[in-house]
Amino acid sequence: MNKDKFTALRINRNAVGSFDRELQEMRLSDLPPNEVTIRVLWSSLNYKDALSADGNRGVTRRYPHTPGIDAAGVVVASVDPDWEKGDEVIVSCYDLGMNTPGGFGEMIRVPGRWILPRPPGMTLRESMIYGTGGFTAAHCLFRLLELGLTPDRGPVLVTGATGGVGTFAVAFLARAGFKVVAASGKPESAEFLERLGAEKVISREAGKDRPGRAFLRPRWGGVVDTVGGEYLAAAIKSCRYNGVVACCGNTAGADLPLTVYPFILKGVTLAGIDSAECAMERRKKIWDKLAVAWRPDNLEEFAHEITLTDLPETIDRMLAGKTRGRYVINLSR
Ligand SMILES: NC(=O)c1ccc[n+]([C@@H]2O[C@H](COP(=O)([O-])OP(=O)(O)OC[C@H]3O[C@@H](n4cnc5c(N)ncnc54)[C@H](OP(=O)(O)O)[C@@H]3O)[C@@H](O)[C@H]2O)c1
Repeated sequence: MNKDKFTALRINRNAVGSFDRELQEMRLSDLPPNEVTIRVLWSSLNYKDALSADGNRGVTRRYPHTPGIDAAGVVVASVDPDWEKGDEVIVSCYDLGMNTPGGFGEMIRVPGRWILPRPPGMTLRESMIYGTGGFTAAHCLFRLLELGLTPDRGPVLVTGATGGVGTFAVAFLARAGFKVVAASGKPESAEFLERLGAEKVISREAGKDRPGRAFLRPRWGGVVDTVGGEYLAAAIKSCRYNGVVACCGNTAGADLPLTVYPFILKGVTLAGIDSAECAMERRKKIWDKLAVAWRPDNLEEFAHEITLTDLPETIDRMLAGKTRGRYVINLSR
């Protein structure tokens, strides 16, 4: 790679108002004037990246743009005394890949306070197998445990179970001793989910709401919901007494058609999970869990390795709900 030039997947708005994706040569001077310049070796694909690549204004306001909310690599220059050339680092969330050029480029330049040193016990590649999806699954479990969820309170439902967040949620919960019920729209993935630790796999349809009813059959001690909408409503209505629900996603919709009764008559807690602005101290604690205590033995099974060239087609499949697990992007070749 020429020292001044690098390749990035750029999203451009075209003449008819839709968005094109193409690999382009960029210059370091195209990057924003932040403190730390990083050579990206690994990135990963998240649903939010697919939305950014599709021109979603809720994620990215300005185009042309380089998505990629996750990046792992090596510092090449820094004016922040906390970081120096050669440091191995992770940047995930904050504004990376949203309105700041992200990890789908071979170089990024970010504020020093966004950076995390590579946690001991984890390679840069492994950190991107987790990426924001794995981090968010761990964040959900972290929050459910803070709220007092224990395995004796009943099974835990994971919705969108074959997704990047869902697969890790299944694995982490199973490892922590919970009985996991995985809800998925992909019947062919049942065996995969069982291998990750799900005790039972139910169809996405089975998790649909029955509008007009304040409660459904009480089943769940806890829930990790990655899809939102009527599936989240149904999950809340199906909680046992004092059930706890971590809500982190909206692939099925952002509305929540619900009454207050599950909360005021059954003591259900709905906990919002935001990984983007999660405080650095909390972030470090969760990454440390990922490095050792919650690390699945079969971490490689969660990821498909792809390159920048494979991204446009993989993004289309993700937007169509046809991907499974995590997609780790090798930018080191
Ligand atoms: N709050 C945060 O900080 C945070 C962080 C990361 C991600 N997220 C959000 O979490 C969600 C999941 O992210 P991800 O990266 O895991 O995405 P993903 O890999 O695309 O997985 C989403 C899964 O949802 C299910 N699904 C897809 N379309 C659906 C539909 N129309 N109705 C119901 N289920 C559907 C599919 O699983 P099945 O086929 O198995 O049902 C799919 O694999 C996204 O909304 C993302 O924006 C939030």
